Amino acid sequence: EASSNLPPARASLGHTRWATHGGVTQANAHPHGDCHGRLAVIHNGIVENHADIRRSLGAHHVFRSETDTEVVVHLLEDRLATANGSADLTTALIESFREIEGLSAIAVLDGETGQICAAKNGSPLVVGWDDSGCYLASDPTALLDHTRRLIFVEDGQAVRLEPAGPRLFDIASGAELEPEVRTVDWVHEGSQLGSFDHYMAKEIDEQPGILRRLEATKQDSVDELARMIARAGEVFLVGCGTANNAGMAGQYLMAEVAQRRVGAVLASEMALVTPGLGPASLVIALSQSGETADVLDAVKLARSRGASIAALTNSEGSSLYRQADLPILLDCGPERCVLATKTYTAKLAILLMTAYTLAGRAEEGRRQIAQAAMLVESLLVAEADHHALESLAGSLAAAEHVFVLGRHTNYPLALEAALKIKEVSYIHAEGFASGELKHGVIALVEEGTPCLIFATEPVTLKETLAGASEVRARGALTVGFSQESHQEFGLQVPLSGSGPAVAFELAAAFQLLAYHLALRLDRDPDKPRNLAKSVTVR
Ligand code: G6P
Repeated sequence: EASSNLPPARASLGHTRWATHGGVTQANAHPHGDCHGRLAVIHNGIVENHADIRRSLGAHHVFRSETDTEVVVHLLEDRLATANGSADLTTALIESFREIEGLSAIAVLDGETGQICAAKNGSPLVVGWDDSGCYLASDPTALLDHTRRLIFVEDGQAVRLEPAGPRLFDIASGAELEPEVRTVDWVHEGSQLGSFDHYMAKEIDEQPGILRRLEATKQDSVDELARMIARAGEVFLVGCGTANNAGMAGQYLMAEVAQRRVGAVLASEMALVTPGLGPASLVIALSQSGETADVLDAVKLARSRGASIAALTNSEGSSLYRQADLPILLDCGPERCVLATKTYTAKLAILLMTAYTLAGRAEEGRRQIAQAAMLVESLLVAEADHHALESLAGSLAAAEHVFVLGRHTNYPLALEAALKIKEVSYIHAEGFASGELKHGVIALVEEGTPCLIFATEPVTLKETLAGASEVRARGALTVGFSQESHQEFGLQVPLSGSGPAVAFELAAAFQLLAYHLALRLDRDPDKPRNLAKSVTVR
């Protein structure tokens, strides 16, 4: 939450922004002002041709930051000056915006008139209004406490905030547009820490309830998704970071349960690896925020080739939600911790139910999720499990590297475990398919190197244990995450489930381990350095 001691005002503009150009300094923070302190600009996105614009602006402008954004406010300043008194902020913004390359949402405040205008291409922008005022934000949830009457500004549109309501313009032609006004009735769940010290702990704890809710309410959406998969020629699961790891888990589940080959693709690589993308393709986009620029780019590409789009997102009204033919809401409530935990398991749950439905065994899929909820709940309430993971965190805290090994369906889980550890503890962690061990990774194992071994699957147990024994022979501290203890393990995190449901118990265990590692190392689990919850830049 932001707070300030600024005086009361009729119009105001503020923005928290992930540093992309220049260091994290006061001078580089938004808003950015023009030479004379009349205009203030905030910007979400990147001005790709900022260096060219800066050169073309000439030497008479005073630049105070190293940001790409600052060129916009000086461009606007020039446009307003050439308008020679007949200054129209909207026209100046539209003209300036046409010169900008890249994905951006830009808002400008004229300090002389109090007028606010904004324009968008790519980055999210929503406006809302009621009797008390007119608001703009990149995320509709920021506005729901004030108004439920919203206009989602689309790419290539500009908007002027006025007391009677926003006015919308087409950037290419300058013509005024009839806005599509939506009154939303979304439940706006607040998120309080309650008795928890951090949102990460709270959100891990919410998982059993979420799994039960998904099991009880999502079968209709899952049926539709399964039908889309059955109809499609080829299917891609597309996401970034944790969402990509969920997509990879989905790839294994579809193959294992439904004998259906689907491809997990990193959103940022999509354009380069999908030459056959076309009307017969289905893209299932996974994104907690529904605003990740790489995911939206992938969806845009798929759309342009005529592919169908399904989406798993936690954000109703997000760009992804609005663009999908079949949006499926994860219904997790707000996820405040930068690290994704509950939305990861929610995606896994939907994908597991989809795989079973595709195989004609929907009931069994739902039983697995109900079972998963019980397993996660037992793990979370057991003091002994918390202590074991806390003490394991103590054993890993001084490590330089942590390796996570898993085979088959445990491989994507190993990738996610490593990502959680990296993000929150800053310890270098890597997930590997155990079969790859001998093809390079083993060179990095030395005396005391922690290796987490995911050994929950009977079919691959023998090979997994063989991998554990190879790293142990080279001095590794092997930590088995498994139902039974084995001599290959130096330590064990005991799990109790079986079948696909155990993946959820395993996920909760490694999420908690990552949380305890952060605490042990005195890191802020909710706000790891350099990371942002929603990455709306490419
Ligand atoms: C950022 C976050 C990651 C997240 C990724 C995808 O990089 O730091 O934790 O997994 O974005 O986010 P999304 O909202 O698309 O799921």
